Amino acid sequence: TKRTALIAGNWKLHGSTDLVQALTRAAKQAASSVNAEILLCPPAIWIPAVASALQGSSVKVGGQDVSAHEQGAYTGEISAAMLKACGSQYVIVGHSERRRHHGESSELVARKAEAAFAAGLTPIVCVGETLTEREAGQNWLVVESQLNAIRGLLNKTTEIVIGYEPVWAIGTGKTATPEQAQEMHALIRQWLVQQNAQAGHIRIIYGGSVKADNAAALMAQPDVDGGLVGGASLDAEEFIGICRNVG
Ligand code: G3H
Repeated sequence: TKRTALIAGNWKLHGSTDLVQALTRAAKQAASSVNAEILLCPPAIWIPAVASALQGSSVKVGGQDVSAHEQGAYTGEISAAMLKACGSQYVIVGHSERRRHHGESSELVARKAEAAFAAGLTPIVCVGETLTEREAGQNWLVVESQLNAIRGLLNKTTEIVIGYEPVWAIGTGKTATPEQAQEMHALIRQWLVQQNAQAGHIRIIYGGSVKADNAAALMAQPDVDGGLVGGASLDAEEFIGICRNVG
């Protein structure tokens, strides 16, 4: 199955009007010369500005999180329909930072992915083990249980993306080796196809200290279909460098 690589920049809690200008310009420049889909996920408040700066280009915009609810008395939340109305096509759900700092369970993550799907957004469902879990040889058990929560969604759609983000590699400068990433991506792929025979086209992207100088080796792995880039996506030159090393 031929899968177009997806390079997603997750700005996390960073951004300003200046950064919107600089990073949308960089993404558009990268998009014109690479054969990959490029996605920017700024804080929700910047989505309209990013979407407007990206008009006419192939670069897409997405959210970093979404409410599981459609609407109602849920102060501070943002719905999938709102993200969509502001120009989003994707939304990240279940990022380890949401699981850890906001106590999100795999069940809640699955409900968020369902809400995204219902509104016509493509959810990027993040999974990944901690260092302790890896050292205990539990990496697949943990990831499998995180995946099990979205089994129902997979029966309805294969319009999803999986983000494998080993927690020990996020923001630490310690990237998974291409072999470690491939090993887990292959297990995820096998699991996906077991749930839904049409799942071969689902992209499994890797996140955790992706940089311009390690992107090519990671993306060369047969089951690594792109990157979910945090820190390096805030640096225009570095982000362009990552995109160039993929497409
Ligand atoms: O969503 C992005 C990941 O958490 C990776 O972050 O590239 O700063 O390690 P990082």
